[in-house]
Amino acid sequence: MDTERINRELLDFLDSSPNAFFAVANMAKKLERAGFVRLSEGDIWTLAPGGDYFVTRNGSALIAFRVPAGEWSGFNIMASHADSPSFKVKTDPEISVEGNFTTLNIEKYGGMLCRTWFDRPLSVAGRVVIRTESGVESRLVCVDRDLLMIPSLAIHMDREANSPSAVNVQTEMLPLFAGKCDKGAFLELIAEEADVSPDDILDSDLYLYNRDAGKIFGLNGEFIASGRLDDLQCAFASLTGLLESEPTGSVAVHCVYDNEEVGSGTKQGAASTFLADTLRRICSSFGGDGEDFLRAAANSFMVSADNAHSVHPNYQGKADPTNRPYINGGIVIKYSANQKYTTDAVSGAIFREICKRAGVPTQTFANRSDMIGGSTLGNISTSQVAVNCVDIGLPQLAMHSAYETAGAKDTAFLAAAARELFSCGIRRTGEDLFVIE
Ligand code: CO
Repeated sequence: MDTERINRELLDFLDSSPNAFFAVANMAKKLERAGFVRLSEGDIWTLAPGGDYFVTRNGSALIAFRVPAGEWSGFNIMASHADSPSFKVKTDPEISVEGNFTTLNIEKYGGMLCRTWFDRPLSVAGRVVIRTESGVESRLVCVDRDLLMIPSLAIHMDREANSPSAVNVQTEMLPLFAGKCDKGAFLELIAEEADVSPDDILDSDLYLYNRDAGKIFGLNGEFIASGRLDDLQCAFASLTGLLESEPTGSVAVHCVYDNEEVGSGTKQGAASTFLADTLRRICSSFGGDGEDFLRAAANSFMVSADNAHSVHPNYQGKADPTNRPYINGGIVIKYSANQKYTTDAVSGAIFREICKRAGVPTQTFANRSDMIGGSTLGNISTSQVAVNCVDIGLPQLAMHSAYETAGAKDTAFLAAAARELFSCGIRRTGEDLFVIE
């Protein structure tokens, strides 16, 4: 796919995916359009050779897989995450300020760069759970207009405003919602969007999102900018690769978790059984037993794809002296001696070989030895399903800002590597001997 087209498609996906619920719904739509069959975790699965399937959990995590028409020995997995740092709207959110303003009570979801959320149009999106005749039903809601703003304090009232200082989320970041308004006005607005009466809304998960659309910028259009590039850029590239793949020898598995930004410890996060459950059910649907599942796991390979830090042009000293990834330089393989990244010599070598076959450049990342760095989902996921795993990502700047910057060339690189991963068969023939077909 050409770079221009993949970037347009990526930005459309980002703009229509204000949070994990929408990212998963949009991926599900794409998969259904491509002929994938939706499975439910509550039903019996009857799978066929050559079949394409997907399953979601909590509406915020998704696994899609393609079964080869012929023999297969394991799973080739690419895992990413659908969630991004944001602010969750608390229950009963309106706060009246001196009878002249109404702000909303919110709390942090994940570790964002707080100041980037000031002075830009925001709105809310998420899900409401409503009362129905027979029980409860979940419904997605997105208020698709400029609704909220977190105004900063004028420089005249805070001469220290340009020196770094912590932001108090409870007192300084409550978004301005209205002038004087009645208690319950927020819920009424959400009910109207969901096309139900406010009394029928039993509960909700609603998050702020940045209204600014994604953009391509730079003298020659070298860069892209958008909210949620971490990690929807990888999720999108993985899905693109899956849709273009021709699986042979291994089941191709596109796995997108939720809740990476808050430690992955939920039923739909990387620490959950979602992936293990799905792989086990694929095996048993083809008549495999527990032994067959363990054999398939031993013949599997996982790529944990979560965005990486590019060298920053204004802060070059923050990067490692020798491992210096740059935007538009290709896929970043991440290393950590403490195994915060799962990459080891074996998994790194296999992934390099896959990229070489795909004609895709790679670069490497390691944290400076005097910096701790972040964490990701690879090592959490492999504690649930013990497979060979490599940690990679696309290079970006301003990670966890409300508006992040990445490279215009890199999405196509990861899509091509994903297509290669999902099309090849990886088989173990000895402890650390692998055949890549
Ligand atoms: Co991430």
